[in-house]
Amino acid sequence: MENSKANILCVDDSPTQLLIYRKYLRKHNYSVDIAKDSTEAMKKILQTKPDLIILDIELPGIKGTNFLQFIKHKEELKDICVIMVSGITDIEIILDSFRKGAVDYLKKPFDEDELILRIRVHIENIFFRKNKEEEVNNLNIKITEKSNEINDIKDATIFSLAKLAESRDPETGNHLERIREYAKLLSEELEKEEKYGYLINKGFIKNIYNMSVLHDIGKVGIGDSILLKPDKLTKDEFEIMKNHTLIGGDALKETCYLNRNANFLSMGRDIAFYHHERWNGKGYPFSLKGEEIPIAARIVAIADVYDAISFKRVYREKPFSDSQIYEIMNSECGNIFDPNIFKVFIRIENKFKEIKETFKSSYKF
Ligand SMILES: [Fe+2]
Ligand SMILES: [Fe+2]
Repeated sequence: MENSKANILCVDDSPTQLLIYRKYLRKHNYSVDIAKDSTEAMKKILQTKPDLIILDIELPGIKGTNFLQFIKHKEELKDICVIMVSGITDIEIILDSFRKGAVDYLKKPFDEDELILRIRVHIENIFFRKNKEEEVNNLNIKITEKSNEINDIKDATIFSLAKLAESRDPETGNHLERIREYAKLLSEELEKEEKYGYLINKGFIKNIYNMSVLHDIGKVGIGDSILLKPDKLTKDEFEIMKNHTLIGGDALKETCYLNRNANFLSMGRDIAFYHHERWNGKGYPFSLKGEEIPIAARIVAIADVYDAISFKRVYREKPFSDSQIYEIMNSECGNIFDPNIFKVFIRIENKFKEIKETFKSSYKF
């Protein structure tokens, strides 16, 4: 610790006492400021931000103990170290100073060495605490940076896994990029609704953005003859295709089960299992109905169907027009879609169109 770094403010109504402080402290390389009462002291505190205050109890106007109390109640001043000084011997007043936050008490007249040694101890403590606080702050910054890095790696790994699965399906160029944007947008809008406020928060929105891309991950378990078939699937083939929900859901369920820290995947598991369930109970694989279907899956269902009908397919030469898309989506309200969530979708349909434009890609036929 270097004394020259420490700022000390001495508050006393006696000019002689202030001169003594100045002489002693300067001799020991402290930077010194003086004030004759609490009002002047307050101005100096705001100007110089002292590390330590030597404060006389018996001040004119606002008493030293009251001024001490004021300092300790101010968030920006409460960490300033205060040594109380007085000629009084009343133990109750001295104890009161400690109760109000003083770190030390010196009885006048005091010895120069005693004053300097006591100040040195407190200044060392102040600098030690400041250094520790700085170390903790730096450590917290590093921890935040590292945990952001780990989260980014985790999100990128999940996305590349989903991309890898998508690469087997020639029809879905940029489908994942759009799905996660739609799911995020719809969730952000639902968060504002009273009905969903308790279910949807910033964490949910971040999670659905990352997890929605896993909805069709189970398609890796569907053979080429069905997955890549250019014509409409037969009834039996469609039954096999439905299994992609179970393949994906089971894989994510097992990962959640085996890894205590992979709880974030539970939303991915729900989306993979239930994104083809229908509000009217006629979906698959479990024929869940209404709010039995997890909300993340109900959101992704809207995003997925919207995207599926927004682009041409091998079996559909021309893409649907905006009005056709609206009609198809509307006809599924209450059938496939949760009517409450659908109402919100309708409100922001234009923003869906913007996402569609931003992330449209040439399909690889
Ligand atoms: Fe699917
Ligand atoms: Fe999809």
